[in-house]
Amino acid sequence: MLPKRVRNHVNPLSSKVRIDFSGFKNDKNIIIDIGSYRGEFGEKLLNKFTDEKNFIFFEIRKPYQIFLEEKFKDRKNVQVFGGDAGVNILNILKHCNEKNILIEKIFINFPDPWFKKKHHKRRILNENFLKNIYDFLNKKTEIIWQTDQKKLYKETLEILKKNKNFYKHKRFFFAPLGIRTYWENLKKEEGQIFFFRLKILKK
Ligand SMILES: C[S@@+](CC[C@H](N)C(=O)[O-])C[C@H]1O[C@@H](n2cnc3c(N)ncnc32)[C@H](O)[C@@H]1O
Repeated sequence: MLPKRVRNHVNPLSSKVRIDFSGFKNDKNIIIDIGSYRGEFGEKLLNKFTDEKNFIFFEIRKPYQIFLEEKFKDRKNVQVFGGDAGVNILNILKHCNEKNILIEKIFINFPDPWFKKKHHKRRILNENFLKNIYDFLNKKTEIIWQTDQKKLYKETLEILKKNKNFYKHKRFFFAPLGIRTYWENLKKEEGQIFFFRLKILKK
């Protein structure tokens, strides 16, 4: 059960939680979901792929992290991590790089937009994030990024334009893998028509 109140805005930079990652018990490909919330998207991924792949779910808000741990506790192919995914993903990338395990996809679905300029550094996909992950990222790993916010989309395109180490694959229009996230469904119900989706690959 979730507590009644969960703080809506969490400064990810203030999270000191650091994770250890020693892999799964097999070398299957991994899918990462950053900002898993209550695991609605994760659940659909599991329904689609069952135990064909391994999954890592990141959630910075502690109550949701605990909720996810409970929800997926019987799934051997799922690991849930707390803290700031922008920082903690590095340990996972390093491990997978060393052991030659492919991370197929990193989903950043509807991340908190942090509109104030002084808060831009709190966005998950920022210049530092791209710089930090570059050395450990496999060229086959797709970063799938989606938002309902045009302003965030435009500013993210600018960041990608500046960073010559990544391809920005052109905007795509349908929910990846045919799976809509909780947030996308919510926004659709509120009347949102346009979503902004990018597929990003290392050069
Ligand atoms: C707007 S919700 C979107 C939830 C879900 N991805 C979806 O599309 O339905 C953003 C989620 O990302 C989480 N989050 C924000 N910053 C994060 C970070 N740095 N690391 C991990 N999770 C983060 C929030 O706690 C929240 O659950």
